[in-house]
Amino acid sequence: MKLWQGRFDKKTDKLVEQFSSSLADDIRLYKQDIAGSIAYGKMLAGQKIIKRAEANEIIKGLKEIGKKIKAGTFKFLGSDEDIHSAIERGLTSHIGSMAGKLHTGRSRNDQVATDMRLYIKEEITGLKKLIKGMQQAIVNLAEKNIDVVMPGYTHLQVAQPVLFSHYIMAYFWMLERDKKRLNCAYNHADILILGSAALAGTTYDIDRNFLAKELGFKNISENSMDAVADRDYLVVFLNAANLIMLHLSRLCEEMVIFSSAGFGFIKIDEAFTTGSSIMPQKQNPDVAELIRGKSAKVAANYQALSGIIKGLPLTYNRDLQEDKKIVFDSLDTISASLEVMTKMLSGIKLNTTSMLEAVQKSFANATDLADYLVGKKIPFRKAHGIVGQAVKICVKKGLYLHELPLSEFKKINSVFDEKLFDAIAIKNVIAARNSLGGTSPKQVKKQISLATSLLLRDKG
Ligand code: ARG
Repeated sequence: MKLWQGRFDKKTDKLVEQFSSSLADDIRLYKQDIAGSIAYGKMLAGQKIIKRAEANEIIKGLKEIGKKIKAGTFKFLGSDEDIHSAIERGLTSHIGSMAGKLHTGRSRNDQVATDMRLYIKEEITGLKKLIKGMQQAIVNLAEKNIDVVMPGYTHLQVAQPVLFSHYIMAYFWMLERDKKRLNCAYNHADILILGSAALAGTTYDIDRNFLAKELGFKNISENSMDAVADRDYLVVFLNAANLIMLHLSRLCEEMVIFSSAGFGFIKIDEAFTTGSSIMPQKQNPDVAELIRGKSAKVAANYQALSGIIKGLPLTYNRDLQEDKKIVFDSLDTISASLEVMTKMLSGIKLNTTSMLEAVQKSFANATDLADYLVGKKIPFRKAHGIVGQAVKICVKKGLYLHELPLSEFKKINSVFDEKLFDAIAIKNVIAARNSLGGTSPKQVKKQISLATSLLLRDKG
């Protein structure tokens, strides 16, 4: 029997049952559904809407159903529309028609959104732990390789030398922002909407403050119509989810590039690579590629939920059932990606020689030569032009700036002296970028110690 069979003569078409059931997805919400129902039962008794003894029996029954679902012994039926219907049906066969009293003044519309809010709050807490784990792996990698030099890129062309530790710490800060966005999504979810009923509130004297306390919600919704139609908290979550995956994807792209033969900067641990069925020599960075690919799906999920909501008239519409697949898929993708990424990152080995060589065989110190001329009172724009000339001569001669003899420099401009070679020495070039947030060892160490204290302070 359907929860709503009363006004129907015909049975639902089997195809419609299959098509409209969300059980395969929302089974994940069974714990939250039971917790919500227990709180609601307690409240009904507290408000004398049902008898205390009835509430106790309902609560006992709900707990048993919870145990059965957990143990895999609860019998779900093809006709169960969703987890809420399944649990109510189970409760009815357990304690009889009195189970029906639980639904006094409640609708599945406020029930499902309550479940989702409880669920997403828990999941966000879990995700933040995984992010912290990855941040720790980044800090460890930066500390272990604090002085390693590599080229920094713009347009994927060598730009200026940086410390590897500086480069990798960039991802620490991206993830730090990701945690903040997750906090924001958590706050959006942290609102009790139960008690909004179908859309208009209820005629019963319910106690929503009690429900909020019992279920651990910080705030209570002010408008029942907004409450049952609101999925903003999920859009905010998916926006945060999208950005997490975008960040992982960028890092993965670099793992792929940096581990390729052309670069040879890093070696991904063998256990995190795969081979080819035809080319015996291959060792491919598939994990990084998969994360890069999966990030597209999470971006699409964000779009999908936005699209679902866009044209929906208030209040509840069945379209909203589709939020589950989208959110659950995003959650699964992010946690799996964060976990594997953290492990892969912890195991990468750096080829410091090829990183350094890539800097030495480049004009990454050209800006520093211009800065040296600025030190000799030449305006930067003019200095830029002079160094440009030097680069042109070097290219013709097959040399780099530090290999061009002083006599050649002097031919371009007489202010050049021996000290120019100190100014463009890689170590000095890096140490000189000592502006706040720059790549000098001093700044990077400061950055790492701030990051470490943030991790310690963040208790999740
Ligand atoms: N399975 C439904 C969902 O996820 C539950 C709410 C059903 N409400 C309704 N009016 N049909 O959205």
